Amino acid sequence: MTQKFYITTAIHYVNDDPHIGHMYENIVADVMARHRRRMGDAVWFLTGVDEHGQKIERAAAKEGILPIELADRVVKTHHELDRLLNLSNDDFIRTTEARHRIGVLELIRRIQERLPDDIYLGEHSGWYCQSEETFIPENQIREGRDQDGHAVEWTTERNYFFRLSRFTQPLLEHYRKNPGFIFPPTRMNEVVSFVEQGLKDLSISRTSIKWGIPFPGTTDHVIYVWMDALTNYISALGFGSADDEKFRKYWPAAQHLIGKDIVRFHTVYWPAFLMAAGVELPKRVIGHGFWLRDQQKISKSLGNVVRPYNIIHDFGTDALRYYVMREMVFGQDQDYSDESLLVRYNADLANDLGNTLSRAVKMSDQYFDGKTPPVPCFDNELMRTAQLIVPEYLRAMDELAFQRALESAWKLLVAINGYIVSREPWKKFKESGADETLSRIIWNCLEALRIVWVMVAPFMPASTEEALKRLGSDPKAIDAKSLEWGKLPNGVPVHVADPIFPRIDIEAYLGGKKMSEPGPPAGPPMETTQAAPPDLARVSIDQFMEIDLRVAEIRAAERVEKSKKLIKMSVFDGERERTLVAGIATKYTPEELVGRKVVIVANLQPAKLMGIESNGMVLAASINGEPSLLAVDPSVPAGTKVK
Ligand code: MSP
Repeated sequence: MTQKFYITTAIHYVNDDPHIGHMYENIVADVMARHRRRMGDAVWFLTGVDEHGQKIERAAAKEGILPIELADRVVKTHHELDRLLNLSNDDFIRTTEARHRIGVLELIRRIQERLPDDIYLGEHSGWYCQSEETFIPENQIREGRDQDGHAVEWTTERNYFFRLSRFTQPLLEHYRKNPGFIFPPTRMNEVVSFVEQGLKDLSISRTSIKWGIPFPGTTDHVIYVWMDALTNYISALGFGSADDEKFRKYWPAAQHLIGKDIVRFHTVYWPAFLMAAGVELPKRVIGHGFWLRDQQKISKSLGNVVRPYNIIHDFGTDALRYYVMREMVFGQDQDYSDESLLVRYNADLANDLGNTLSRAVKMSDQYFDGKTPPVPCFDNELMRTAQLIVPEYLRAMDELAFQRALESAWKLLVAINGYIVSREPWKKFKESGADETLSRIIWNCLEALRIVWVMVAPFMPASTEEALKRLGSDPKAIDAKSLEWGKLPNGVPVHVADPIFPRIDIEAYLGGKKMSEPGPPAGPPMETTQAAPPDLARVSIDQFMEIDLRVAEIRAAERVEKSKKLIKMSVFDGERERTLVAGIATKYTPEELVGRKVVIVANLQPAKLMGIESNGMVLAASINGEPSLLAVDPSVPAGTKVK
């Protein structure tokens, strides 16, 4: 029977553009999906974005836009990057979609129906971390910050609670019976010791947050963002809707791939919610390690974010996919550096993989009239090596030891090169022409190379297609059967072409800087840090004209209470006075604003900022987050259109 394989990534927050960490997760999931698909499983691959909660609410307020506007914008960069990374996902979920709301409400309904006491109204006070959207235990707080340095606030809320405490034993029981539920095993140990300390009930609604799915039967409570987010894994399959065919097909064959920071949510809260609702638990939760830069966590506030765009532009998607999969021991943390990427690129891809391909194809082209050799061979050392290596490779893939899987493929490459050197085909060609012996030798090289490429196919899908074409093989033949010896046809055209991975002059690339020198490379062209996405989607003139930009005069201004940044203004737009709220108080006082002419976006949907409805937006340049209002000549009357 066909095995089902449902692989998910974490849904990424939309308060920031994706970076190498998010991307890594998507690449790993894609490698797993592609591998299982070709091994014959029925695969469903889901990724998506997490759009609710305070993080998004605040990020949007900072820009003076609605949360949904922020989400609509950032989700585009996720889509673009996913395409750029050549992801083969079958679905993409946004938590603002109707199908998601249906799934979340259904989960709660089932819990309430089965175990009416498991959800109750209660009061809760504690140190709340907005950044993590969770309460932090007292003993983890130092000087108003949690262990990761995020600020915490003392918060009291009257919320709905989930009786998580009741699940301490059932969860421990589940871990004991299913030792493979959490991977790698070290993470299982961490979770077990956490749960063994006893679980406390969990607040599953928030009165303080406005941006989210309302708790059933209330208007001022929003469903706890983690309950909301976690449910994406089933809501995307149609859980709770009339059309739940996918849910019935793929659940519970689920494997959740996530970073180590959110293992607890996935291995404690999520299974408890599902148990309470009487839904089967996912098969496995896989926690990968973190990408670091200079041994530090990558974060926007540290300014050490690695964005993938330049790497992809300069080296191609597959080089990046290969690098992250080969460099990181799955499950552990790994330091990113431009240097290590360049070294791997030249050594592994340009030299080992690329050169061996060019060399073998060239020989076949030259000795056998542009074709693969006429005689195959089923008894030789390359075949025996391949037959030892392939099972080793498949085991490594099963164990998610991607680094080892790639190492296996490289072992075969080394064997091919050794074989070429020892057989000296060029000498044989000179001595006795393209005879049967030479045919076998060259065919063996091409065939072993074909198998190497089939092994790397899930990692570098586009390059594999190209390489297989050059080798005279069917570019799509990458299934389980293709890993067997003997599939390369005889006497079919091979294709000599430019190197798949052209060698890079590292020193010139890094601007003359030696690789051994410490610190980041000097200047351009690498700029992986904070690089902007290339070629952002353009808008047409018609789209631009839909935005009503107008000159307006500020008639009154005052600071918004309890806000460091916001100023409330009354502006005259040529027709009427309207209220606007803008995050400009760090630079301007209300007094200096009154009487000033500014440019506003007049047809923006109203947004509530700190409880005040803002009708439009004032345009300002942002210099490292510091606003500078666009200047308008004072003689221009209020209401004048800007275009
Ligand atoms: N929205 C939540 C997840 C909800 S899942 C039901 C979230 N989002 S996130 O955008 O902050 O992170 C998304 C994923 O990226 C997480 O699995 C996280 O662990 C991973 N990573 C974020 N930074 C990372 C690195 N520097 N390195 C590797 N992965 C990292 O958490």
